[in-house]
Amino acid sequence: MILAIETSCDDTCAAVVTDDGEIRSNVISSQGIHDAYGGVVPELAARAHAERCDLVVADALRTAGITLDDVTRVAVTRGPGLVGALLVGLQTAKAIAVGRGLPLIAVDHLEGHLLACTLQPVSFEPPFVALVASGGHTFLSRVDDAGTIEELGGTLDDAAGEAIDKGARLLGLPYPGGPALERLAADGDPTAFAFPTGAKVQGLDCSFSGLKTSLLYKVRDLGDEEASARRADLAASYQRAVVETLAVRVERALRATGLRRLAVGGGVAANGPLRERLRALDAEVAIPDRSLCTDNAAMIAAVARHRPALAEADVAGLEAYATGQRRTAAAR
Ligand code: KG4
Ligand code: ZN
Repeated sequence: MILAIETSCDDTCAAVVTDDGEIRSNVISSQGIHDAYGGVVPELAARAHAERCDLVVADALRTAGITLDDVTRVAVTRGPGLVGALLVGLQTAKAIAVGRGLPLIAVDHLEGHLLACTLQPVSFEPPFVALVASGGHTFLSRVDDAGTIEELGGTLDDAAGEAIDKGARLLGLPYPGGPALERLAADGDPTAFAFPTGAKVQGLDCSFSGLKTSLLYKVRDLGDEEASARRADLAASYQRAVVETLAVRVERALRATGLRRLAVGGGVAANGPLRERLRALDAEVAIPDRSLCTDNAAMIAAVARHRPALAEADVAGLEAYATGQRRTAAAR
């Protein structure tokens, strides 16, 4: 039985997952204190994790109907993320592992998004092409098995979630923008405005900076009154451009690899129109439940199932790594 802890950003998460990938509990405590700032404030995030991490772990154990006596391995996110936030999870996990004499497994957050679909009941196993689209990262990988991950393409500028959050902000929506943009877009016409989809960027990389600028100019050109009246159309057209940007790269990746199997993860994969667009592809497509797309600890356990534990001597010195310092299994 794996106890996993994830505190890389602004959700305090703990989960209990069996060795064969059954989720017994998946507790996500969203801090909800950053909205007023239009983004996550690192110091506040770390403090809030420190306040609630133990409670979230206790809740995960209780919901799973087990105690620490039943836990056989502890898994924790090591990075990438906010270092102060990550350290809270690491300290909690280290304390449990050392105190109980349990093996500790350090996990890369992005590999968590990549392998979330391997958990039950989806149980989608490699080989597959994987799209991860989150707030901090957007990339396509080829996953031959849980330990063989090759990056095929990334983003030349913003991550998809970042582009969504910035677009949502321009339309006066609260942070995080994804769910609010999706709700507003539901009442709009996705073909009302033609926003760029980075069509000129060849290969498997995405670019979102042109899209963001184009929304900014469109809002300016329309003027306050008209832009406000057409907010839903703007949201729907903008959302469609993000979805198309991603879907076109996925199609290229499936063609390039010859694989007809696609796994999708990351917060943006919670988006309804993106899920629909990808499910319609001529491939076997696995997209986990929304609660497994946005940050959670069950996906950290999913990776831990396939990774060795740290040597006892390395536990105390285990460090976090920041966003931008990705260390994948393939790169280690
Ligand atoms: O994976 P995630 O929860 O955290 C990171 O690791 O970044 O992703 C968060 C991102 C945010 O940019 C958020 O706006 C976006 O995922 N997101 C969505 C939706 N729900 C969350 N984007 C579009 N539609 C959604 N329904
Ligand atoms: Zn994430």
